[in-house]
Amino acid sequence: MKDSFVIGGLGGERKLRGEIAVGGAKNHALKLLAASVLCEKPLLLENVPDIEDIERMSEIIEKLGGKVVREGTYCRVDTAGMRGGEIDRDTAKRMRASIVLSGPLLARFGATTFPHPGGDIIGERPIDFFMEGFEKMGAVVAATEHEYRVSAPNGLHGADIFFRWVSVTATETLMMAAVLAKGQTILRNVAMEPEVIDLAEFLVSAGARIKGIGTPTLVIEGGDMLKPMKPHRVLPDRIETGSFLILGALAAADLRITDCEPEHVRMLTELLLRSGVKIETGADTLHIRNNTNRAHKAMTLKTHEYPGFPTDLQAPMMVFLTQATGESRVFETVFEGRLAYTEDLVRMGADITIWNPHQASVKGPTPLRGATLESPDIRAGLAFLIAALVASGTSTLENVYHIDRGYARIEERFRKLGADITRVSK
Ligand code: EPU
Repeated sequence: MKDSFVIGGLGGERKLRGEIAVGGAKNHALKLLAASVLCEKPLLLENVPDIEDIERMSEIIEKLGGKVVREGTYCRVDTAGMRGGEIDRDTAKRMRASIVLSGPLLARFGATTFPHPGGDIIGERPIDFFMEGFEKMGAVVAATEHEYRVSAPNGLHGADIFFRWVSVTATETLMMAAVLAKGQTILRNVAMEPEVIDLAEFLVSAGARIKGIGTPTLVIEGGDMLKPMKPHRVLPDRIETGSFLILGALAAADLRITDCEPEHVRMLTELLLRSGVKIETGADTLHIRNNTNRAHKAMTLKTHEYPGFPTDLQAPMMVFLTQATGESRVFETVFEGRLAYTEDLVRMGADITIWNPHQASVKGPTPLRGATLESPDIRAGLAFLIAALVASGTSTLENVYHIDRGYARIEERFRKLGADITRVSK
């Protein structure tokens, strides 16, 4: 079913108001689900978001012989009866995070097969770090046109691996593979996103031996299957938090964001404060109030690994910059091809120039006009929803499947703030 949203724009008025709670982080919950493969006892998770990608990951685990039971935001994953084997091809092609399963599967069963993982169309997304890492740990990789077959009949062994580029999923995958490998693995230049750190802490709480958590070098002593002792809570989604802040800055008189971890979006709040947005930070809340400043200032924005500005907030922030006064520069350093969506913002009235696949400049403020749009990926999809709310007139946003992949029932949650959004199912 291809749903769409019909959105009544606010014409630049800041009329939204109220409170919105942040859900569990997609890119944390998905990795914890993958970690269940390393566990000999059932894994209990709390604060799991009700989104498409979690459904798909659960399906993959069930096809491999695991059992996933979800009740509200609780989730119980039992992989005791898992057989291993091939990661479901159709699902994996649609979801990048599926590749994270390859590490635990290879480590536990000595083999795994999967297609080139899909996910968002945000430029080329190679998997060379994963394959090179597996080979260094003693696996043999056979790649055909359609799939990768990785096998280590005698098990994986420890290795010293240096990442040429900081990669979230490669760090998580090889860290989990190393938990069951023989001997010591050293991972250097690892990702230090909060979700990666928390995943490592979860593994340790269940019996893994990992040193250097929160630093660029992880030292992992391989051992036995894990035994999770207590339910583990998924972190608040910092991308959702940041997107709500941006929506608030653009379209709300007063917006209180609850159930979040403000420190995880510090770079964004620093930039918004400097631009003239009034934000009050609490222990687990962010509050935009007296949002009457008409001239938020332009800025230079550079995406970067954590704690830098997240690439996943680049598109929503671009919408903010179309309404800021002056010329902003945006430098997307993580992915090539993650500026393509700006064409649609230009159609809506934005003044954006793309200089090369990594750099853009934005002149503002320019009023935006409603348009018919199609979500190209999760994050640009949400940016379009925000742009449509800021614009004058009605917009239609097609293919909201992409938004559903990452944000639970977003239209209902925004409607409670006063937004005019209707879901149309065809
Ligand atoms: N890279 C390689 N080779 C590899 C792996 C990565 O060259 O084998 C490069 C990538 O091409 C990219 C850079 O390394 O230029 C960093 O990419 P990274 O591997 O960190 O991205 P990812 O792990 O594929 C995760 C999130 C993304 C998020 C990025 C950056 C998941 C499932 N996905 O992707 O989230 O943008 O980290 O923070 O965790 C999203 O949720 O919408 C999303 C795209």
